[in-house]
Amino acid sequence: MSEPGKPASPEQDLQALESLKEAASTCRECPIGFIGTQTVWGDGPVRAALMLVGEQPGDQEDRQGRPFVGPAGQLLQRAMDELGWPRNLVYVTNAVKHFKFELRGKRRMHKTPAQREADACLHWLESEIAHVKPQAIIALGSTAARQVMGRPVKVLAERGTWLTRDDSIKVLVTLHPSALLRSLNDRESVYAAWLDDLRKASPIMRAARKAAG
Ligand code: URA
Repeated sequence: MSEPGKPASPEQDLQALESLKEAASTCRECPIGFIGTQTVWGDGPVRAALMLVGEQPGDQEDRQGRPFVGPAGQLLQRAMDELGWPRNLVYVTNAVKHFKFELRGKRRMHKTPAQREADACLHWLESEIAHVKPQAIIALGSTAARQVMGRPVKVLAERGTWLTRDDSIKVLVTLHPSALLRSLNDRESVYAAWLDDLRKASPIMRAARKAAG
């Protein structure tokens, strides 16, 4: 615990995050908590300059217990590699911490979380933001944008421009990588435009890399 009036140290914030992760592992505050394999908490360092927020874990993330390790995560990793953003300097998480799906045969098909389910999860996301203390957040897709900004965001209209949260943290909104995986036409130009959106955060990552040595 930090002393009253004194900001928490990174070690104190890390400890708080570990306790929150433990508490979230048994979260049943909405129905999705009962169907997934496990809670998928965020991954990355406290004080990461940049936080990436997705919608919810997918099939692979639910099995492995880490965010963005499936196909969407691989596309995100490709983009981060091309931008020169080391993953270990970024905090990656989701607006919703459990995988919502419906069974089609043996396949677990992604289902978009209901707003009340995302809202039930919001305190976990806000606690990650409060303890990681990122300089900026990238919201990937409309669920993440809605939850991070606390208002509906039209992703196609607002993508690639910096928004500001009430706590002054800058927020960049862009498409979710799964949307790119679903796009049938012009895949490479859709990808290039997405990379252009993400690149707006490169100055923050350049400074983070410099600080990391
Ligand atoms: N999609 C997300 O939004 N998050 C993940 O972790 C994986 C896929």
